[in-house]
Amino acid sequence: LPRDQPYRTGYHFQPPKNWMNATSGPMYYKGVYHLFYQYNPYAAVWGNITWAHSISYDLVNWINLDIALSPGDPFDINGCWSGSTTFLSGEKPVILYTGSDTMNRQVQNLAEPKNLSDPLLREWVKSSHNPLMSPVDGIDPKNFRDPTTAWQGPDGLWRVLVGNEMDGHGRALLYRSQDFITWSQSKEPIHSSTRTGMWECPDFYPVSIDGKNGVETSSLDKFTKHVLKASFDNSDHYVLGNYTAVTDNFLVDTDFLDNGSDLRYDYGNFYASKTFFDSGKKRRILWGWILESDNTTDDVKKGWSGLQSIPRTILLSKTGKQLIQWPLEEIEKQRIIKVSFENKELKGGSVLEVSGITASQADVEVSFSLSSLKEAELMDPSWVDPKLLCSQKTASVRSNLGPFGILVLASKDLTEQTAIFFRVFRSKDNYVVLMCSDQSRSSVEEGPQKTIYGAFIDIDPLNEKISLRSLIDHSIVESFGGEGRACITARVYPKLAIDNQAYLYAFNNGTLDVNIPTLNAWSMKNAQIVSSTKRRKPN
Ligand code: FRU
Repeated sequence: LPRDQPYRTGYHFQPPKNWMNATSGPMYYKGVYHLFYQYNPYAAVWGNITWAHSISYDLVNWINLDIALSPGDPFDINGCWSGSTTFLSGEKPVILYTGSDTMNRQVQNLAEPKNLSDPLLREWVKSSHNPLMSPVDGIDPKNFRDPTTAWQGPDGLWRVLVGNEMDGHGRALLYRSQDFITWSQSKEPIHSSTRTGMWECPDFYPVSIDGKNGVETSSLDKFTKHVLKASFDNSDHYVLGNYTAVTDNFLVDTDFLDNGSDLRYDYGNFYASKTFFDSGKKRRILWGWILESDNTTDDVKKGWSGLQSIPRTILLSKTGKQLIQWPLEEIEKQRIIKVSFENKELKGGSVLEVSGITASQADVEVSFSLSSLKEAELMDPSWVDPKLLCSQKTASVRSNLGPFGILVLASKDLTEQTAIFFRVFRSKDNYVVLMCSDQSRSSVEEGPQKTIYGAFIDIDPLNEKISLRSLIDHSIVESFGGEGRACITARVYPKLAIDNQAYLYAFNNGTLDVNIPTLNAWSMKNAQIVSSTKRRKPN
């Protein structure tokens, strides 16, 4: 790894250079995973947006192909923006995407594979019918974008959602079509909210109740709930509800930004994500765009901006009240050197080095058990905002039970450190577990944003251990608390804790002791990301 690029990742997807944003149209087709993404081929800043295209056989190692869609026609001359893929009958994949047209209006377009017998689907042809959907009937032409994967109702009609804003509020417009060419807008949006602004990159799909598998987008299985995701306020928010395909009625369990309910895929840096159904392994996979949190001048200097998350499998929790995410199993093949220990007492105010692995490129799994719960700090009922609470009670603020967790991308003397940790509070009739990712000391540089993130996590510490998994990769830390009940992703730019100068620690800055039943940590080997001209299918 060249020293002048300490922030490039080893096993996360990123193009060799330039700007990347929203994941667009991921899919699995005949043994091949396709990833498309919003990409500027000319610079490390947003602009000239195309659909870049990479393929993989395992969602870990990638082959970059030629750009699939570039601006050039009246209906997308100012950019080929986000969208999705859908399988039409006969398993034919098509792309629906937003074009920014000659008048900078947002319209929805169709593209089809040029040659279905090419297993890599390298070339895409824009439909002669474009644009299929235009901003008519009072639709704001500047806020009409990001079509979802379409699904088919019992009447055989296709349905698709398009993100929109009306009178300053977010909504997802519903369109129906018989032939995928002629679309008519439904009178009612599938859902809307007066509490949010524009909804970018909506996603709408079924999840199975009490099931281990993912569900195909058009499935009419009765034992499902539907997820509606919308991207706004720098976060991917979702709601769960019941969808009736006959009437296209979507009844939500709790709504966006309801009091006491703040469901998000990730409480850190994770945006404009997209799911797809992997028919090979019968799972639904989530990809998200992880933005830089340095300055544009830094991005231009390093020549790139943007990462993709490690793909995550997504399921409904047993409670039915939230989603559970977990890094896809294939990523475990990247694990090489392993260190582990068991049943380690972590005294109040202590730090324990985890040595023997490459701490700048690692996968860590740790759990904590607590014996003195009764002595936990009292929860103040006014502490309703977990992000604020984590910002006030940072890793250096001691209480009884916590902060305890891990210090990643830390310098040897701990000057630099990113702390992912928990705190346990006692309230009248239960315990409250807070998960934080504290970037405030992540770099000695002043420039990068060091926002602290937090989430309340549905763990009962009386009956279960508090577990954490973090995927560390030079400038990204993706953390999964409570087996995927809360996820927090952070970008950091350490100056000292880079490459082999990065260290990993378990820590307990609370006054009470905690126990680590198990800790496993692995060095992670590099993913292979190559250009199509250099390599074909691996053996
Ligand atoms: C999401 C987004 C989409 C839009 C695309 C443009 O980050 O703003 O709403 O289609 O990026 O690149």
